[in-house]
Parts: sequence; structure tokens; C-alpha cells
Amino acid sequence: MAAKSIFLLFLHIFMALIISISTCYGGSTDKTKDLYIVYMGSLPESDYSPLSHHLSLLQEVLRESAASDSFVRSYNRSFNAFAARLSGEEHKKIASKEGVVSVFPSRTLQLQTTRSWEFMGFPENVDRNLTVESDIIIGVIDSGIWPESDSFSDEGYGPPPKKWKGTCDGGLNFTCNNKIIGARFYTLDIHSNSARDEEGHGSHTASIAAGNKVPGANFYGLANGNARGGVPSARIATYRICGPGGCTDDSILGAFDDAIADGVDIITISVSGSPRPFNFDSIAIGSFHAMEKGILTVQSAGNDGPFPSTVGSVAPWLFSVAASSTDRRIIDKVVLGNGKTLIENAVNSFTLKGVKFPLIKGEDAKSNCSDADARLCSHLCLDSSLVKEKIVVCDKSTGWNEAFRAGALGSITLDEDYFVVPLPSSGLTSHNHDLVKSYINSTNNPHGEIIRSEAIKDIAAPKFAFFSSRGPNSISDEILKPDITAPGVHILAAYSPVASPSSAPGDKRSVKYNIMSGTSMSCPHVAGAAAYVKSFHPHWSPSAIKSALMTTALSMNVTEHSDGKYEDGEFAYGAGHVNPVKAIDPGLLYDASKDDYVKMLYSMQVRLFSPSPKETKGSPKDLNYPSMQALVKIGMPITVEFTRTVTNVGLANSTYKSKIIANSQINVSVKPSSISFKLLYEKKSFIVKVSGEALTAKTRISASLIWSDGTHNVKSPIVMYTQNPEE
Ligand SMILES: *[C@@H]1O[C@H](CO)[C@@H](O)[C@H](O)[C@H]1NC(C)=O
Ligand SMILES: *[C@@H]1O[C@H](CO)[C@@H](O)[C@H](O)[C@H]1NC(C)=O
Ligand SMILES: *[C@@H]1O[C@H](CO)[C@@H](O)[C@H](O)[C@H]1NC(C)=O
Ligand SMILES: *[C@@H]1O[C@H](CO)[C@@H](O)[C@H](O)[C@H]1NC(C)=O
Ligand SMILES: *[C@@H]1O[C@H](CO)[C@@H](O)[C@H](O)[C@H]1NC(C)=O
Ligand SMILES: *[C@@H]1O[C@H](CO)[C@@H](O)[C@H](O)[C@H]1NC(C)=O
Ligand SMILES: *[C@@H]1O[C@H](CO)[C@@H](O)[C@H](O)[C@H]1NC(C)=O
Ligand SMILES: *[C@@H]1O[C@H](CO)[C@@H](O)[C@H](O)[C@H]1NC(C)=O
Repeated sequence: MAAKSIFLLFLHIFMALIISISTCYGGSTDKTKDLYIVYMGSLPESDYSPLSHHLSLLQEVLRESAASDSFVRSYNRSFNAFAARLSGEEHKKIASKEGVVSVFPSRTLQLQTTRSWEFMGFPENVDRNLTVESDIIIGVIDSGIWPESDSFSDEGYGPPPKKWKGTCDGGLNFTCNNKIIGARFYTLDIHSNSARDEEGHGSHTASIAAGNKVPGANFYGLANGNARGGVPSARIATYRICGPGGCTDDSILGAFDDAIADGVDIITISVSGSPRPFNFDSIAIGSFHAMEKGILTVQSAGNDGPFPSTVGSVAPWLFSVAASSTDRRIIDKVVLGNGKTLIENAVNSFTLKGVKFPLIKGEDAKSNCSDADARLCSHLCLDSSLVKEKIVVCDKSTGWNEAFRAGALGSITLDEDYFVVPLPSSGLTSHNHDLVKSYINSTNNPHGEIIRSEAIKDIAAPKFAFFSSRGPNSISDEILKPDITAPGVHILAAYSPVASPSSAPGDKRSVKYNIMSGTSMSCPHVAGAAAYVKSFHPHWSPSAIKSALMTTALSMNVTEHSDGKYEDGEFAYGAGHVNPVKAIDPGLLYDASKDDYVKMLYSMQVRLFSPSPKETKGSPKDLNYPSMQALVKIGMPITVEFTRTVTNVGLANSTYKSKIIANSQINVSVKPSSISFKLLYEKKSFIVKVSGEALTAKTRISASLIWSDGTHNVKSPIVMYTQNPEE
């Protein structure tokens, strides 16, 4: 699939959200000024007035009257920052002021069920402590929520946990209950001035993490079953950062500032962009301050795969989630006039009742367009009178948008399409697409039918999703990303009844449950799993919870693509497929504290909260991370050492032996190769040494370290990779 069509595939999911940021701020008149974030690190402990400091900084570079015009908002509950409209000159001046860590433009980022939890080996009747679970608060930073959904009813819930410090400030016509205990919104757009979800995305992600059990949920009969979240008894606090104009950095920071101070336990954020250095990345900044307060942030890896270095969630304190399939695959079929049947993945709720309709190629139905554009079914390229009662064949994955607009009966598009379509449509692989075209060429009267989708059992699952963003990590080459994978294909969950289920404008269907695909869907699965682990171990640190989920993840099959254009293996799924039940008893933990992350930032010379790093010793690979990765130079012999420390949380009196699953290209040794504990929470350190002959080409070498006491198998991926000199 070409880069362009992947982008479009992504575009169509979240079309409504990707609009230029400039439409977002009606108040701005000065077109030469952009919205910037001025980030100043942690809040000083002593008497400090953030707002007046922020305004006085602005006044030092702007005229006094201009300062208050340019000021947008202050972040002062959980960290120190503000947003302001600045010119290029002004933002450089502010960046040089004392106390300022970084200044960066506020980007617009993108938002990136029944069966899925069972598939993860996490059945409804799994061991739970409902009392503890109902004290857990999940902060969902997304497009808001539809509070009236059955998934968020508060029947049977007591009052909010005592620790809750947030409020219900959901705006117009938004009431919280004992399930949705908090609501806030940050969208500056007057058309989205409430926490009510108009996109559907936020309701979907919130219900995957913590929705009630709702029997008989389905999408037009498809995927029928119990819809439920990972921790159905937990509470939800919603922070709306996305409106029709997108999800902006300034909103994201506002949401983190509040969620941390409000007292959420876990944050889930299914939003990502292209990778940026940590101190210029609002999600890395917000989640760092969350981590300081013991809150784990789970983030979607992104939907820009399968190309290398597309993973947009890169900081080691974030839990970055890739997407893979479940054993419930939704398929639809195209039946051609010559009897051939082609099977694909679109979610098509329409039936043509066994009748075959004429097929027409986009270029044969063009209005005022070039042949090339018409072939792709580009916007406004099809002539309505020529496509009426016909199925249009388009050479682009999102061609159905134009087919639908022009009033075609159906469409056949190019490239796998995992999404809900607004008309009978199927996205075919290029091989099958060619079969359709040669059939059209072969006859004067080409006909076909598109069959309504059905669910089938896919024994090959989990397979990693084509769209899921891939490593290697482009900001820190010694931290493996993504961290883990979870179900993110064809997930049924709550939706907003005012949102179009296909995102196509003009799709007037209104549904309570919708089927969506993306790392946006896998992310809240891991947030739910993390909340589940936390309900057993309330005092574990964010890194400990993450370690437990990573070291118990199930191995995925490494499949090598022959052409090397796509990344796979650990760069697609990290430590493997999440396995929540195992994670409550991991045996050993790779824990890391704020100080460990600070040391790592120093070694990278990154300023994240104090103006200048002190030490510069060491490197990110010394961070006590549950996976191990190093970039090695082509032509140089491999000698890499990793130092790690594990904390015993299994049996007090225990001995673990190391086992290496290696690769013929490297030797891996562990010293000591066996470690013994006498106490719970006792720590032991070891060194992993990787050696091998020089590599001659761009490659990735995978190995694993497993610590086993006979009961617990604590597994870490080890990845050595090379890059071409120009990369
Ligand atoms: C914190 O920021 C908010 C929002 O900008 C502002 O209203 C408030 O006055 C600030 N508080 C302090 C103590 O600066
Ligand atoms: C749930 O956890 C609480 C607090 O740790 C404990 O008092 C209670 O006995 C537990 N309930 C069950 C059913 O395990
Ligand atoms: C308030 O919400 C209800 C429930 O969805 C809806 O029917 C009603 O139209 C809303 N009113 C306004 C003023 O938005
Ligand atoms: C066709 O498109 C061209 C260029 O977009 C435009 O100038 C022209 O007016 C259009 N003609 C009709 C008949 O719509
Ligand atoms: C179908 O015919 C067109 C033009 O006649 C040709 O360009 C195209 O290659 C043919 N496609 C296939 C798949 O045979
Ligand atoms: C991996 O692939 C092998 C061979 O195709 C298969 O037998 C095995 O079940 C697969 N494992 C997983 C976890 O998918
Ligand atoms: C630990 O195990 C050893 C050997 O099995 C045993 O002698 C010792 O008593 C055990 N200690 C505790 C505290 O259980
Ligand atoms: C691994 O170590 C053995 C023994 O020292 C050596 O013979 C072999 O060449 C090494 N393999 C690699 C890939 O370096």
C-alpha cells in the first residue's frame, strides 16, 4: 500500500477531526501569530504565583496590552506552563528567558467489544475485587463521552471514591453520575463547548477501558454479544481535548494538568502524532508529571504503519500500545458475474439481497476531472448520473467517500479497509482488485454483488494490524517502542448517537455501538488491563505495572517481509500480546522511579523540567526498562551491555534461572545466570552481554531473556538493529 493511501485510510477514520488548527480559535485576529506552549517544568515548591509569572514573562517580550491579548491559558495545578499567541521573534525571545524549558507550537494531533477481552484470556468471571476496582478512576483524554450510553449508567454504583478531587464541569447539558464522576473540556471552538462526545471516538475508548457490561450490544446485528470494559466497576473521568478542529497540544496539556490534580489512577490517551523530542511533546510532558504522581499513562502507538520509525509514542514513561487482530474477523465479500468470490475486511451492514448490479470503473464515470483523478474516485470526480444503481471501482482505499457522495449504489476500493462503510463497499488487496478489473475488461456487461459483512473465526489471530505504527524509536534509539500490542481491529464498543458511524459526512445512521479499528482501540484495552493490575497492587509504581504487563505478554510470531520496506517483529508489537491475568503475578518487576528517568534524560541532554541537565554519564540503555535495545553500527563488531535490576514480587524464598532464546547472529550471556531472593521486594542486579560479528546490512536481530523460577517466566525482548548510513 502506498504511503498516500495509508494516510488516506487513516484520514477517513478521523476525517472530521483533521481540520486546520486555524479554524479552531475564532478569537484570533492576528494571522502572523501562532499558538505556542511555553513549558517551564515542575511547579516551584515555595510561594509562587504561576499566572502572574506567566504574564510578566509575556510582558517582557510584548507590549503590556499585547501581553494579555496574547495569553491563552496557564497550566498550574500539576506542572508549570502556559499557552500564548506569539510571533516567530517573540517565541525565540521567551525561549531564552530564565526558567523556560522549551517553547513549541501547539500542534494538532489525531485521534488515532465484546470478544476482545475473552480473546485476551480475560473472561468475565476472572478474579476481581470489586470493592477495590470501584475505587479506581480512569482518566480518558479524548473527544469527550456520551454520558447517557448504557455503558456508562451508574446503576449499582456508590458515590465517587473519597480521594477524588475533580469536578463535573462538562458544560451545556452534561450531567455526571456515579460512573462518570468527572468531566472537563478544553476545546476552544464555540461549537464544541461541552464534554459531550460528537465524534464517537471518546465514548468508544472509555467503554473499552471501563464500560459497564451491556448484553446484546451489536452493530446492525454484527459482533453481537456482551460489550464490556476491562474494569467494568471502575469510574471514569472524561477530559475532552478533541473537537471538529482536531486535538491540540494546548488542550492536551490542560487535560493532564487537571487529571493529575483531580486524582485519576490511570490515564488513557488514544491520540498521537509524528514523534517529537520529549520536551517538545505535550503528551510526553504531561505523562512525565503524571508518572511523578504515580499515574501511568497509556498511549496509542499511532496508525501510520507499516513503515519504519512511525511510532509516535516514544517516551519510556509512556506505555505505548500497538494494535493486532482478534480471532473474530469481520469480512465482506464481492461476488462477480463470473462467479468469483473475493473476501475482504470492510464492515458493511448493507445487503443487496442477492442481486448483481453493473460495475463501472471510476474513469468511466468521471465528471469534470482528469482520468487519473477519476480512477481514484477523488472528491467531486464522479458524475452522479453515471454511477446511479452501479458499483464503482476505485483505485484508492477511501474511494467510497466519493462513491457515496455521488450517490453510487456501491463501491469496490483498493487496499484492505477495516472500517465501517456508508454504502455497500469492499476494500480489496491489489491482487483481488486486479481480478475485478480484468473481469470488467473481459465482458460487455460486468456485474457484481457486495455481500453484507459477517463474523468468522480467525485461527491465525493475533496478527499484527497493517496500520499499526512501527519502531524503531526515532527519538531514543535505545528504548524499544511500541511496548506491547492489544486488540485493535474490529472492536465493538459504545458510540455517540450523533456521530456518523463511518465518519462520512451524510451517513445519517445513528448507533449506540460501533465497530472501529486502530491503535486508539488497543490503547484502552491496555489501560483497562493496567487498572486491573493496579486493583491487586495499589502501591505499585507506573513502571512496575507496565513491567508486569510487558514481561508476561504472549509471544507473537515474527514474520519477515521479504522486501524490507515494512517493519515487523518487536518493532510492530514490542514485548508481545497483553495477557492481563498473568500480569497480576509476574514474579519479578523491572521498576524505575522518577530519579531513574531523570538520569536517563540527563544522559540524553534533554531538559524536561529543570533548565539544564547536570550529569551526562551513561545512556538510555541503562534505564531499568523491561526490554533491551541497542542500535549498532554496520561494519562494527557487536559488544553491548545492559544492566538491569529486578524486584521480587513472587515468592519470598525463590531462585530464578536465566534462559536465553538467541539468534545465530549473536551470543547473549547473563551474569549472574541465577539469582536468589530471601525476601519480597528484595532487589537483585545482573548484566546482559550481547556480542557478535559485524553486521553488513540493515537488519534487526531479536532475542529474549527469560528469568524463570519454575512458576513465573519473566520475559524481556532483546533487540539489536542497524540502520542504513543515510537514515
Ligand atoms: C491557574 O491557571 C488558571 C487558568 O489559566 C487561572 O485562572 C488561575 O488564576 C491560575 N492560578 C494561579 C495560582 O496562577
Ligand atoms: C478486597 O480488598 C479489600 C482491601 O484490600 C479487602 O479488605 C477485601 O477483603 C477484599 N475483598 C475480597 C472479596 O477479596
Ligand atoms: C441535552 O441532551 C439530551 C440528551 O441527549 C438531548 O436530547 C437534548 O437535545 C440536549 N439539549 C441541548 C440543549 O443540547
Ligand atoms: C471544470 O473544472 C475546471 C477546473 O477545476 C473549472 O474551471 C471549470 O469551470 C469546471 N467546469 C465545469 C463544467 O464544472
Ligand atoms: C483493462 O483495460 C484497460 C484499458 O482497456 C487497461 O489499461 C488495463 O490494463 C486492463 N486491466 C486489466 C487488469 O486487465
Ligand atoms: C506461530 O506460527 C506457527 C507456525 O505457523 C504456529 O504453529 C503458531 O501457532 C503461531 N503462534 C502464534 C502465537 O500465533
Ligand atoms: C527458604 O528455602 C530454604 C531452602 O528450601 C529453606 O531452608 C528455608 O527455610 C526457606 N526460608 C524461608 C523463610 O521460608
Ligand atoms: C558465540 O560464541 C562462541 C564461543 O565463544 C563462538 O564460537 C561463536 O562464534 C560466537 N557467535 C557469534 C555469532 O559471535
